[in-house]
Amino acid sequence: MSVHKEIKKKVTTLQLKKMKKSGEKISALTAYDFTMAKIIDEAGIDMIIVGDSASNTMIGNQTTLSISLQQMMNFARAVVNGVKRALVVADMPFGTVSGNPFNSLDAAIVMMRETGVDAIKIEGGAEIVDDVKKIIDAGIPVMVHLGLMPQSINKYGSYGVRGKEEEEANKLILDCKLMEKIGAFALVLEKIPSELTAKISKEVSIPIIGIGAGVEADGQVLVIQDAMGMNKDFSPKFLRRYADLYAIMTNATKNYINDVKLLKFPNESESY
Ligand code: KIV
Repeated sequence: MSVHKEIKKKVTTLQLKKMKKSGEKISALTAYDFTMAKIIDEAGIDMIIVGDSASNTMIGNQTTLSISLQQMMNFARAVVNGVKRALVVADMPFGTVSGNPFNSLDAAIVMMRETGVDAIKIEGGAEIVDDVKKIIDAGIPVMVHLGLMPQSINKYGSYGVRGKEEEEANKLILDCKLMEKIGAFALVLEKIPSELTAKISKEVSIPIIGIGAGVEADGQVLVIQDAMGMNKDFSPKFLRRYADLYAIMTNATKNYINDVKLLKFPNESESY
């Protein structure tokens, strides 16, 4: 049985807020290209995040720090071209929103104007509040990413669970409230204890999209290659694989190679 509501109209940030209020969970996946975006949009996903995880999944870099604004914009444009219904949110890559509000606004405007995405996502808390406020005040919808922030991996030194200690949990709660106050339309909370997610979700009125943040989040997001089982080397506790595309594509490729070698492809009906 399909549980997503048949909403044919484009999903908006306002609609996501209403979904939180009514208790309907928000479904989100990442995507970086036209074909994948079209498939998951037609399947009814609510939100597509063009994450800077593209640095890892699409380019093969070790971290998300290595992707440029131009590269992110290329992926974002491709996704926008494939989507009719889902809200499309693009990540602002490392270094584009980092303490100079005028530069940050310029980068956000370029992302919105050149790609046609509906909103942007920014990693960071109180340290970049002036940048985020400047962008929101210019009319650009912003989702803020807190908890585990992969762009800060060199500062933290690990991809471990965040907010386990009281001090870090309290700062996270304050950051979430601050971002709600200045007008962020949603939060992504990555790899934090479920209890902390539940507490924050009750204390802020904007939707929380969780990744490794438990079922109390108002919605869930997974990186598409992970969810579809394309990446067999990455198995964090929070990941559920919904398909085994690695095996399916490996078998299909082997069958194709075999057919080519044995002159079984193309056959007469596949030839002119
Ligand atoms: O970059 C990314 O893919 C993300 C998602 C986890 C939301 O930030």
